[in-house]
Amino acid sequence: QERGRFGPLIGSIDEGTSSTRFLVFAAKTAEVLTYHQISIPHITPKEGWVEQDPEYILKSVIETINITCDNLKKLDIDPADIVATGITNQRETTVVWDRITGKPLHNALVWLDVRTGSTVDKILQNGKRNKNFLTSLCGLPVSTYFSALKIKWLIDNVEPVKEAIDEKRCMFGTIDSWLIWNLTGGINGGLHITDVTNASRTMLMNIDTLSWDPQLCKVFDIPMNILPEIRSSSEIYGYLTESVLAGIPISGCLGDQQAALVGQMCFHQGQAKSTYGTGCFLLYNTGTAIVQSSHGLLTTVGYQLGPSKPTVYALEGSVAVAGVAMQWLRDNLQILKNTGDSAELAKSVDEVGEVYFVPAFSGLYAPYWRKDARSVICGLTEETKPGHIIKAALEAVAFQTRDILEAMALDCGYPLSKLLVDGGMTANNLLMQIQADYCGIPVVRPLMAETTSLGAAMAAGNAKGVKVWDLDHIQPVPSDIFNPSIPENQRDMKYARWKMAIARSLDWVD
Ligand code: G3P
Repeated sequence: QERGRFGPLIGSIDEGTSSTRFLVFAAKTAEVLTYHQISIPHITPKEGWVEQDPEYILKSVIETINITCDNLKKLDIDPADIVATGITNQRETTVVWDRITGKPLHNALVWLDVRTGSTVDKILQNGKRNKNFLTSLCGLPVSTYFSALKIKWLIDNVEPVKEAIDEKRCMFGTIDSWLIWNLTGGINGGLHITDVTNASRTMLMNIDTLSWDPQLCKVFDIPMNILPEIRSSSEIYGYLTESVLAGIPISGCLGDQQAALVGQMCFHQGQAKSTYGTGCFLLYNTGTAIVQSSHGLLTTVGYQLGPSKPTVYALEGSVAVAGVAMQWLRDNLQILKNTGDSAELAKSVDEVGEVYFVPAFSGLYAPYWRKDARSVICGLTEETKPGHIIKAALEAVAFQTRDILEAMALDCGYPLSKLLVDGGMTANNLLMQIQADYCGIPVVRPLMAETTSLGAAMAAGNAKGVKVWDLDHIQPVPSDIFNPSIPENQRDMKYARWKMAIARSLDWVD
């Protein structure tokens, strides 16, 4: 397998909520050799509606691959050394398309979109059913977040979707399926598949059998013939027909949060990581056991690294708003020029005049699962400056992570001793210190920041017989550590106030 001066290379398509990237890893060292990134705009036709253009996403993937390969050539590295590629993606985001024309039947409904509030009420029979009535089957509460609600909304509200279903032309997929189908031939024989981690976010997969569940499909009235085939997260699914890399295998696929669990080497039961991107997602490896939460966490598939490999499960605490709050401060309040300036501005204000900000733009996810929660900013005084609100937005990320850790300790019986973190926002040292201070445990940030893409590359390399890092002999990951630096009474006092702000967010009456 030895090739060029870096040996075999593995590509990783990382299609997140805000951007598409293609990264190339040297398999031996897991070093990122080069990458390219393209932003993906959000389309917001109405309050709470968040859409993206599936064709734009597809084009961005092909373009990032082509530009990255050009970058490789400039570095005097032969793109032909890329032996496989993985895919990792924003989860739950729902695409429906026409199998004959290959065209989307509607824009993608992004996971953050809350238009399905009335669909949730319909499924819960206006409060007669408990939101957890399906958790024993799929591990998830009924929420606007998951794909099944979005598919149902599309069937109920978009005539071309209904027609395509009646005429058996409709295909559904999360972003991984949409991409794999198109990148392996589209209308000319593209593969209609997904992996277990993405399927576990639809609310339609049985968490135990790992198959589409007829009972769940019936609850949402979704025909099973539109669903992709469920595969493991690491196997050769097929070969690229698009881009300059046509001919190489796609051999890894994981939802982005699960990919980060793999990239952070959380292969043992009891290990957990938290990824700070558009939202913030903490996954705790529960081994091969399916642990049902009694405290508002999700049960999800962590990974299955091969068709005959065991399925590893995770408990997940999902927070809808993390980085997106910084974008809101920049674009809507216009008190931040660049999101990267947040730490500096937050540090510039004094401690007096504490402000609390609950950014419930998509309602509140774990552990509350309240779609009716409203955002609140409280504690404002005449002295409040933009920096106080920016700091409150950073603190909100840390407090919400503490909410998740509290729920996880209750479900698992003991608290986490350290928090492994990754994702774009972890470059913010102030946030990392606040996180350690408010959770009271060390926060460990790997020096290699691209853990999500690395996870997908590891899965892809594994299926192709190329080890991206050595899964059998895992070395300690070189990291920065942030230790808690405030006294416990201060931590508890701040958290108690955060809970008061949360109570106000939940008490909002429309
Ligand atoms: O569940 C949504 C999640 O997969 C989105 O991740 O990184 O785009 O915030 P990210």
